[in-house]
Amino acid sequence: MMRTRPLKVALLGCGVVGSEVARIMTTHADDLAARIGAPVELAGVAVRRPDKVREGIAPELITTDATALVKRGDIDVVVEVIGGVEPARTLITTAFEHGASVVSANKALLAQDGATLYAAAGRHGQDLYYEAAVAGAIPLIRPLRESLAGDKINRVMGIVNGTTNFILDKMDTSGAGYSEALDEATALGYAEADPTADVEGFDAAAKAAILAGIAFHTRVRLDDVYREGMTEVTAADFASAKEMGCTIKLLAICERAADGGSVTARVHPAMIPLSHPLASVREAYNAVFVEAEAAGRLMFYGPGAGGSPTASAVLGDLVAVCRNKLNEANGPGESAYTQLPVSSMGEVVTRYHISLDVADKPGVLAQVATVFAEHGVSIDTVRQHGRQDGGGEASLVVVTHRAPDAALSGTVEALRKLDTVRGVASIMRVEGE
Ligand code: HSE
Repeated sequence: MMRTRPLKVALLGCGVVGSEVARIMTTHADDLAARIGAPVELAGVAVRRPDKVREGIAPELITTDATALVKRGDIDVVVEVIGGVEPARTLITTAFEHGASVVSANKALLAQDGATLYAAAGRHGQDLYYEAAVAGAIPLIRPLRESLAGDKINRVMGIVNGTTNFILDKMDTSGAGYSEALDEATALGYAEADPTADVEGFDAAAKAAILAGIAFHTRVRLDDVYREGMTEVTAADFASAKEMGCTIKLLAICERAADGGSVTARVHPAMIPLSHPLASVREAYNAVFVEAEAAGRLMFYGPGAGGSPTASAVLGDLVAVCRNKLNEANGPGESAYTQLPVSSMGEVVTRYHISLDVADKPGVLAQVATVFAEHGVSIDTVRQHGRQDGGGEASLVVVTHRAPDAALSGTVEALRKLDTVRGVASIMRVEGE
């Protein structure tokens, strides 16, 4: 039976995502009420710029005092779409203290201090939902937290940043260099004026921390995530990748160690075979590939950003949280019982593709092979192309077998010191095989 007293929702932030959440709440009010079992009412909207015209939102709902809004006491659900660590953290914990559940899209805060939020939600018997924090519209948090709660996840590997995927896809398909592809991404509105958070991998690292924590039932914070951006990827790297039947993607990879005693989380560019499902993720799309013991391999794909897709995820959470309120129940809280330590990048087992410019004379190949052997790194394939420019140099491309990253990076450092190695043209990890 439909309850007539509406559930009251406070919206913190009314930008690209917030305005879309408000619009859908209004235009789909009857459907949302039928699905929830009670009407939902937008009871207040906290903004920074109150003078801006906001179509479809009654001016009396607008306030600049977000703290007073979350302290009102009659708010059932706070939707936080302002982003950043503060004041969002204080506003969310205050909302819990005043009897509201929270739907958040805030990846930075969850990656940095999710534990504080979960603890506050638990203390006050409220829900914390955040589907929109990772990969926009793609249902991912709920499948990991709920659908796969009975399984054992061993690996999560994904393209979780649309801006960088757009840039890498352009480089792949058109042969463009990084700067040219970035300019196109900026002109089309995919990249921000300051693209650092995306291209240096900070955005993806925050998402990796959230995914690893949920997947492995432990705590992983942003600082635990190894991060390399994709600004150094060159057209020559793509040419090498093509020769190997691969492409290059900026990957977020979360893994349980083979012995099960630790986990790792990392973000870096990597070559993946064209046959891997993630290789076909084009333009600004996101996709996450999950490997679970019983379920096997699953792939989640879709738009990872943008007002409307992100609002879809927020509204899904809003419906879930409102249903819980009506049933006087709670959704899942933090699950960090395994307390698995997070290992460093050096312990990650991976493969390297190394492209060297070497002197083309007797004994060089043997010298290079010795360096790999000294570091315990086994070579999978070697390709050599002599140069026709008469400079007495050759290009040597080595692909390794799997080895600890510390051994692989140690090998590269030692190779750089050889007189016969004139330069290291490219180093790229190889994943997805
Ligand atoms: N800037 C992100 C991206 C979206 O390009 O995917 C927000 O996380």
